[in-house]
Amino acid sequence: MSEANILTEIDEMQQKALQVIAAVDDEAALQTWRTAHLGRSAPVMQVFTNLSKVDKELRPQVGQRANQVKQTLEAAFAERSEAIKQASLQRALTQERLDVTLPGRRPVHGRLHPTIQILREMFAIFAEMGFQVFLAPDVETDDNNFGLLNIPPYHPARDMWDTFHTSTPGVVLRTHTSPGQIHSMRANAPDPVRVVLPGMCYRYEQTSVRSDMQFQQVEVVAVGQHITFADMKGTLEGFARRMFGDNVQIRLRPSYFPFTEPSGEMDVECFLCGGKGCVICKGSGWLEIMGCGMVHPTVLRNGGYDPEKFSGFAAGIGPGRVAMLRYHIEDIRYFWANDVRFLEQF
Ligand code: PHE
Repeated sequence: MSEANILTEIDEMQQKALQVIAAVDDEAALQTWRTAHLGRSAPVMQVFTNLSKVDKELRPQVGQRANQVKQTLEAAFAERSEAIKQASLQRALTQERLDVTLPGRRPVHGRLHPTIQILREMFAIFAEMGFQVFLAPDVETDDNNFGLLNIPPYHPARDMWDTFHTSTPGVVLRTHTSPGQIHSMRANAPDPVRVVLPGMCYRYEQTSVRSDMQFQQVEVVAVGQHITFADMKGTLEGFARRMFGDNVQIRLRPSYFPFTEPSGEMDVECFLCGGKGCVICKGSGWLEIMGCGMVHPTVLRNGGYDPEKFSGFAAGIGPGRVAMLRYHIEDIRYFWANDVRFLEQF
C-alpha cells in the first residue's frame, strides 16, 4: 500500500465516524457507534493490528495518524455522551417534575365583596320585617333624583349632593337611592309599599376615609295607612340591633332632607375608636349610618298617594359605613380600590 493511500484511508475513517456520530441521539446508538468505530474490529483499530505489515519507513507516520484519529473519535464519543446525558436530564426536569410529597394546591375560591355580604345580611333582616328588594336605575333623570323629591332646580338644598351630570341635559348619575322612592311608589300605588332598594350612588366630591365618590346605599321605603314616626324608629332601631347586637349604642338625631318631614339621622357608636373619637367619626365617637324621615306629603303625592290618607317613612342606609363598623375597616375607599390583599380578608 502506498503512503498516500493508507493515510487517506485513515482520514476517511475519521470523517465517516464523525459523520455518523453527529446523528446519534440516544445511549444505545452511541454504544453501537463505539463498537463500530472504536471497538477491537473497528477500521482504525485494524490499522494498529496490521501495523507490522506496513512499510518500515511509513510505520511511524501511519501509527501517529491512527493514534490521532483514535483520540479524536474518543473525544467525540465523550462529548456526545455528555450531550445525551444533559438532554435526558433536561427532559426529566421539564416533563417528569412531580413531587408527590408536596401538599395539594388549594383551589382559589371567589368570595363575596364585603359590602355584598353586608347587603345580603341587610336584605335578610328587612325580609323578616316584610320588606322586598326593589331595583332602580343608576342613571337617573334630574327630575327623579331631585325634582320629584321636592328639590326644584336652583334650590339651595341641591348643594347637599354634588352631582355627576351626563352629556345629556337632565340626566345624572343618581346621587342617592332616594329616586327609588318615586319608582317604588309609582309601581305600587295605591297599594302599600314595603321595599329595600340597594344600589350604587355617585357624588362628585372630594374623597376621604369616610366618604367616597362611588358607594352603595340601601333605601328603605314604607308607605301605607297609619304609618307613624314610631314605626320608623322601631324598624330602623330593630335593624341596627340585629346588625350590631342588642347592646349597641344608637342615637337618632334631628336632621334635614327636603323629601322627608320630620327628618333624622341615625348614628352608631364608633367601634373603630371605641367611642373615643377618631378620623372616621370626626372625633365625635359616633358614625352616621343613615338618613331617614317621614315621607314628605309632596313626595307621597308625586308617588301617586293621597297624603291625607297615606303616610310613610324612608331611610337611606350606607352599607359601606355598616361594613366599616362591622369589620373595623379604617378607610371607606378600600371597598372600591380592588386590592386583593384587602378583599382576601373577607
Ligand atoms: N337620600 C339621603 C342621602 O343620600 C338619605 C335619606 C334617605 C334621607 C331617605 C331621608 C330619607 O343623604
